[in-house]
Amino acid sequence: MAHYQGLIHRYRDRLPVSDSTPVVTLNEGNTPLVELQRLPGMLGFDGRILVKFEGLNPTGSFKDRGMTLAVTKALESGARAIICASTGNTSAAAAAYAARAGMTSFVLIPEGKIALGKLAQAMMHGAVVLQIQGNFDDGMRLVQEISADMPVALVNSVNPYRLQGQKTVAFEIVEALGDAPDYHVLPVGNAGNISAHWSGYCESTGHETAACGHCAGQCPYHGHGARATRRPVMLGYQAAGSAPFLRGAPVPQPETVATAIRIGNPMSWSLAWAAVRESGGWFAECTDEEILSTQALLARSEGIFCEPSSATSLAGLIKDLRAGRIKSGSTIVATLTGHGLKDPDTAIAQSQPTHAVAADKGPIAELIARFL
Ligand code: F0G
Repeated sequence: MAHYQGLIHRYRDRLPVSDSTPVVTLNEGNTPLVELQRLPGMLGFDGRILVKFEGLNPTGSFKDRGMTLAVTKALESGARAIICASTGNTSAAAAAYAARAGMTSFVLIPEGKIALGKLAQAMMHGAVVLQIQGNFDDGMRLVQEISADMPVALVNSVNPYRLQGQKTVAFEIVEALGDAPDYHVLPVGNAGNISAHWSGYCESTGHETAACGHCAGQCPYHGHGARATRRPVMLGYQAAGSAPFLRGAPVPQPETVATAIRIGNPMSWSLAWAAVRESGGWFAECTDEEILSTQALLARSEGIFCEPSSATSLAGLIKDLRAGRIKSGSTIVATLTGHGLKDPDTAIAQSQPTHAVAADKGPIAELIARFL
């Protein structure tokens, strides 16, 4: 098999690039689709649940899919610098891809409200990190204003290339399963990812899609490579303290332990509603307790460590399964958007304490025996 070189190379016929486009890649994409082995039985569910582990992208989240294309197109257009607002993962991806491209990156993050791993990434990759005394929504407004006036390319998901890159996740799922799943579940924050997933599924079946920003449904490769015979029902899950799609309006002061989705005024509002409505799906919400207990459940029963925001997809699914809203025997794919190592503080805070023990065989054996 040829050396995998990232999603732009893999799907170049379905992305807005030409032979002369200078591709900026870290070989993102091609993430594992892992079937859960114990959870379905524990939940009394007779169908299949698979997780698309996007935490295994180069910077540890799905953002790399959009960032490879956004930074590639920024470089192609002659930009020397990029800017974004972020709850953490976008800033990590922007910083890494800017480094790869030899560009400067500016990232605006809510002061004290991003997970430590993400901050470390942005700093280590050499981004100019601006901690603002405001939330993600404030940052989003500011980067839109600044990029309108200054020579910095905006790489948040209002940049249509981001969603174009992110749609490739659906192509990979369709290829792996041979068709689309019955349901696709994922966490919703700024709402770009649910829109991008839907766009990818639509293109896999030859449907036109509003999110295909570069071609308005007219491009020759629309529907090209179609492999799916159907599209999944899309379910979008939010954290209860940060759930504008459930309230039907922006939330002024969003709060949740799942800091990646601590967003009150999502940019892809209409696209996300379209995805849910056209697919016959719905939005639902989970409490912080449900999110954290699902994160731990997945880590302990399946060996998969995702960050709290990512666990929202399974937390919501578990509630909908229990409520009988999901058809029995279905195949369900959940996107796990980011790796658990991004947020070590939250993981450690909710885990059993470690055991301080002398470096002697006796007490260690005694301790081990208690668990056998
Ligand atoms: N999960 C994780 C781990 C995220 O980082 C994000 C968004 C989402 C889910 C929600 O995806 O915004 O497309 O609905 N993080 C952005 C950031 C906002 O700045 O890193 P969405």
